[in-house]
Amino acid sequence: MLTTCFFVAAALAARVHSHRFDPSAYAAEDVIERDFAIIGGGAAGTYAAISLADQNKTFTVVEVTDRLGGHTRTFRDEATGASIDIGVQLHENIPVVRDFFKRLNSPLAPFQPADFGNPKYYDFTKKVALTNYTRPTIEGDYVAMLSKYPFLDDLNNLPDNVPKELLLTWPEFAAKQNLSSGSAEAGLWWPATPGNPLDATALAIFNDGNHVELAEYTGAAVRSATHYNSQIYDNALAELKEHVLLKSSIIAAQRGSSRKDGVRLVANTPSGRKLIKAKQLIIAMPPVLDNAKYFALDQKERSILSKLSGKHYYAGVMNNTGLEAGVAYTNVGQNTPHHVASLPGVVEIAGSASPGYFFYWYNSVDPQTQEEIEEATRSTIKWLQSESGAKAVEPTFQDFADYSPFHLSPPTSDIANGWYGKMKGLQGYRNTWYISSLFVVGSTQIWNNTRNILPEIIDAARC
Ligand SMILES: Cc1cc2nc3c(=O)[nH]c(=O)nc-3n(C[C@H](O)[C@H](O)[C@H](O)COP(=O)(O)OP(=O)(O)OC[C@H]3O[C@@H](n4cnc5c(N)ncnc54)[C@H](O)[C@@H]3O)c2cc1C
Ligand SMILES: *[C@@H]1O[C@H](CO)[C@@H](O)[C@H](O)[C@H]1NC(C)=O
Ligand SMILES: *[C@@H]1O[C@H](CO)[C@@H](O)[C@H](O)[C@H]1NC(C)=O
Ligand SMILES: *[C@@H]1O[C@H](CO)[C@@H](O)[C@H](O)[C@H]1NC(C)=O
Ligand SMILES: *[C@@H]1O[C@H](CO)[C@@H](O)[C@H](O)[C@H]1NC(C)=O
Ligand SMILES: *[C@@H]1O[C@H](CO)[C@@H](O)[C@H](O)[C@H]1NC(C)=O
Repeated sequence: MLTTCFFVAAALAARVHSHRFDPSAYAAEDVIERDFAIIGGGAAGTYAAISLADQNKTFTVVEVTDRLGGHTRTFRDEATGASIDIGVQLHENIPVVRDFFKRLNSPLAPFQPADFGNPKYYDFTKKVALTNYTRPTIEGDYVAMLSKYPFLDDLNNLPDNVPKELLLTWPEFAAKQNLSSGSAEAGLWWPATPGNPLDATALAIFNDGNHVELAEYTGAAVRSATHYNSQIYDNALAELKEHVLLKSSIIAAQRGSSRKDGVRLVANTPSGRKLIKAKQLIIAMPPVLDNAKYFALDQKERSILSKLSGKHYYAGVMNNTGLEAGVAYTNVGQNTPHHVASLPGVVEIAGSASPGYFFYWYNSVDPQTQEEIEEATRSTIKWLQSESGAKAVEPTFQDFADYSPFHLSPPTSDIANGWYGKMKGLQGYRNTWYISSLFVVGSTQIWNNTRNILPEIIDAARC
């Protein structure tokens, strides 16, 4: 069956006379023939790979970094045994999550709010402690409003006629809908909200702070029992190693319009150039143009994907901070609208379960370098040391992560013009599928949606 499929593909390749897509131009071991090519090995790509393996399908994962896991990242200090999750922390306690962790031999534990440390509030920009401030929590009016728009949980369900009020910025929306000041402020507090929160649309706030996120924040969250969220990805890599190309990326592609054509991809890998022949292509990387431009986009695909952009967000780990264990030092604007923290800057510095180690999150509208970010974080820590009367010590920066491009979206005017419907319409087009974060934000929903769409993808590979 495989042979029949690729017989046709070979004929197509011959017609276009492109040498780099011609298997005979490669050594036999550099031609990889599989049912599926998965590009990106984060939450979406790894889930797809494990699911396909369990269904005896063949695939290759092409991942640009040296690991699987994407936004899930755990710093492990072998010297001290410390294990600090600095990216993804929580999942909803539902079967798709429990099954995936169980499949990959990684124990879960209930999440406790104190896992993030007990918050203490400061305006890091103005350098003042906000001793009387407490962060509000979501109130009933937020929940009631969210329930009016059930399609916001997953933008696959967004109607073409998007309710206009959802395209207002969150502060405008909150004012117009008379949301309580607590809900208006708490809506901007979903963790890891990148960019200027005051510019976020109501649609984006509700899509992130949706029913799944609410459930997680009201007691239905689980986390890695050992604060080693990356364990599922490390175990997946150990199992799938021979089907994963790390430190690799696609530099050219040929994608047919009929299923029989399949796709051909040229990959740059540490062991040289490979030709990947696959029946279907699964895009599990952020499909911004910078990444997608190597995939031989046609006019229609280009007009849709070129609208996408992401925001900047960073994180890191340090020890030797002189800060108080178990505290989440949290940045709040003393006099800003809805108390949003000023940018660029540290979002929070949170004590981890490993004594002495803290992780920080950092938000900026414009891209910044690791040096700039660590310098700003160091300066914040120095101020916190003096503010709290702690000993002045030099923090040691141990790990750094750049999560850009994060929270992908098209411009608001394109959302009004049905962009999400057009994007959804690309599923399966020219043998290509999109499963990474785009319609939903968190891993729980990414896994659920990947599970839901996989039968269709597998079906498309039958030819
Ligand atoms: C700080 C932070 C905290 C978060 N906390 C949570 C949380 O607690 N719970 C939750 O559910 N979600 C959380 N999220 C959201 C998180 O983004 C999603 O959970 C999930 O990781 C997104 O999965 P993904 O597969 O779409 O993207 P990613 O996990 O980012 O995976 C994309 C992969 O594609 C790779 N890639 C990129 N470009 C290319 C290329 N050109 N070629 C090949 N590979 C490429 C990347 O290296 C990466 O491995 C958090 C995000 C951040 C940034
Ligand atoms: C996959 O192959 C194994 C071993 O041959 C077999 O036991 C299993 O039933 C197969 N699974 C599926 C979903 O076909
Ligand atoms: C905090 O509240 C207390 C008691 O109401 C008050 O005395 C104090 O001045 C307040 N501190 C700040 C920084 O506003
Ligand atoms: C909000 O409150 C104003 C003033 O009380 C009122 O005129 C308006 O109708 C209210 N809007 C909504 C959506 O409830
Ligand atoms: C910080 O980590 C370094 C490197 O792992 C270690 O040598 C050092 O002892 C740690 N310092 C503290 C105060 O924990
Ligand atoms: C998972 O997918 C199912 C089927 O579409 C849906 O009913 C359910 O709400 C989804 N759950 C989550 C947490 O996204």
